[in-house]
Amino acid sequence: MRLSIIGTGYVGLVTGACFAEVGHHVTCVDNDEAKVRVLREGGIPIYEPGLEQLVKSNTALGRLQFTTSTAQGVENAEVIFIAVPTPPLPDGAVDLSFIEKVAREIAAAMTRYQIVVDKSTVPVKTGDKVAETIKRYCKAKVDFDVVSNPEFLREGFAVEDLMKPDRIVIGVRSPRPVAAMREIYAPFDAPLVVTDINSAELIKHASNSFLALKISYINALSVICEATGANVIEVANGMGLDQRIGRRFLEASLGFGGSCFPKDLSAFVKISEQVGYDFALLKEVQRINALQMDRFVKKISDTLWVLKEKTIGVLGLAFKQNTDDVRMSPALELCQRLHKEGARLRVHDPKAMAKAQAVLPPGPQVEYVDDMDAVAEGCDALVVATEWECFRRLDLQRARRVMTHPILFDGRNLFDPAEMERLGFIYKSIGR
Ligand code: UDX
Repeated sequence: MRLSIIGTGYVGLVTGACFAEVGHHVTCVDNDEAKVRVLREGGIPIYEPGLEQLVKSNTALGRLQFTTSTAQGVENAEVIFIAVPTPPLPDGAVDLSFIEKVAREIAAAMTRYQIVVDKSTVPVKTGDKVAETIKRYCKAKVDFDVVSNPEFLREGFAVEDLMKPDRIVIGVRSPRPVAAMREIYAPFDAPLVVTDINSAELIKHASNSFLALKISYINALSVICEATGANVIEVANGMGLDQRIGRRFLEASLGFGGSCFPKDLSAFVKISEQVGYDFALLKEVQRINALQMDRFVKKISDTLWVLKEKTIGVLGLAFKQNTDDVRMSPALELCQRLHKEGARLRVHDPKAMAKAQAVLPPGPQVEYVDDMDAVAEGCDALVVATEWECFRRLDLQRARRVMTHPILFDGRNLFDPAEMERLGFIYKSIGR
């Protein structure tokens, strides 16, 4: 089918490239001229495993094209996907101004029946507002349908999550657009859930909040494990074998971050308030997450006593592995806290250093180090802050030789306590 994606960011570009890969003809629209130019020249503005190859091959096959014109996108497609940002407002509510603007632009360009699909993460009842807006601004007064089709892509695994989704959720206000949506997703081997538009919108916030709850639950357990000499990984393994619980998202950490969980949690709490429900459970999920970071910083200051003028190596800046994204990154927040205490930082990340420098500029107190094994040189302590797989292969013998003292704080439980003790490290991790 002929599809358009308005908003070529992390969700829009992955969705467009995967739709093209399975045979659809896709026009990706973005109002950022520089981004469209980079894409047209075969470049990729974000790091996402597998994405570059998909974009290159499908552009070469003529199944994927890029433009800055929304009207062009509307003209080229039977189904138009909205994938523009829905950033958080200071009070936790969702900024829907980009959605509203794109809905007006689409309406102005419509000349025939088309389906407008909202893929951006939006509060429940947004679909109704998009429909009202299109009806009001559609000059041609043509018929249309609005559909909710939330995305469940994890950064760093987005292509994999879209090519092999656990489920596809379609929310409709009438049965008319269902056939077209089934045709779009026919090449994807996954259950397709067709429901009403409000339930579809709610599924997204409900799912993300539950995943965040799961992480805060294991992080709360990690505190009890530390107090009782239990091992949180062993506990997670024992819990996870229960099919009703599942092992994934039970990795104790220095807290969750990213551009989704914190934003979606705040949004869901706000949406609940607006409909008259105090979602105290989710507020506790947020509180546990903030406390987890405080506890980890305290571990470091309790061990080093004074942080001022200490040299601390930090491995990891991205909010998670396999991404260059540093938005709401726990690793970067940790760096900023240590920096504020007067520590001298030597930092490394396989992919996120460029984006991190915009937030944590290099200087006399902050050195960016290209080689992960060189970070430890002259350090009084080393910290693992992001769960990059490559950090497991850190040259610990070399680190021990070049550090002033062999002290390592592991915020992602990448190393084994017994092995670290054998190597002579003072080793602190999470929940063990
Ligand atoms: C999340 C949801 O997983 C995805 O379905 C949704 O579409 C977007 O939001 P994402 O934010 O990209 O995806 O990353 P995710 O893999 O969920 O991790 C979020 C944060 O939780 C990261 O900081 C990660 O390090 C942390 N995390 C994850 C843990 O601390 N422990 C875990 O067990 C899993």
